[in-house]
Amino acid sequence: MKFRTLAAAAMIAAFGAGVVVAADEPQVVRQEMMKKVGGAMGALAGIAKGEKPFDADVVKASLTTMDEVAKAFPDQFPPGSETGAETEAGPKIWEDAAGFKAESDKFAASIEAVLASPPADQAAVGPALGSLGASCKSCHEVYRVKK
Ligand code: HEC
Repeated sequence: MKFRTLAAAAMIAAFGAGVVVAADEPQVVRQEMMKKVGGAMGALAGIAKGEKPFDADVVKASLTTMDEVAKAFPDQFPPGSETGAETEAGPKIWEDAAGFKAESDKFAASIEAVLASPPADQAAVGPALGSLGASCKSCHEVYRVKK
């Protein structure tokens, strides 16, 4: 249990460092951010399915990782990054930047709602996952093109 907590903490630390350095292309930076979101959802799903023991620290760290991404994500789409690095970012991100920002804000708000009263046991993780998963789908449908 301790190890998993440390691993989650290291993940967050690595993420923070990535944001500060940001020497990479924005296409790569934002893909790495989404990979972290995918990893965090995977950690929660493991608990929800009972494959991993419930660990309040892991739950909190996963939610915090996603919250940080949700807040920083809209800034990773500067002009000129519409293509390249096998980006799956859809043209609507630039056509409707305000809508995209609103979608990210909605994602952050739903994460923060869960963080305000985090799942206290394994049974509560599944419903929280469901509420967050709806955000992934609603944004991907409009703003992500599958390559
Ligand atoms: C505000 C919009 C938005 C939300 C919300 C969102 N995504 Fe994404 N996601 C994107 C965009 C845009 C891309 C494509 C980025 C690129 O390739 O440049 C992407 C790409 C991805 C990728 C592929 C990363 C890679 O390897 O290139 C994964 C995995 C992913 N999202 C998972 C998730 C999960 C899981 C959630 C919900 C918990 C989520 N996303 C929520 C917009 C969003």
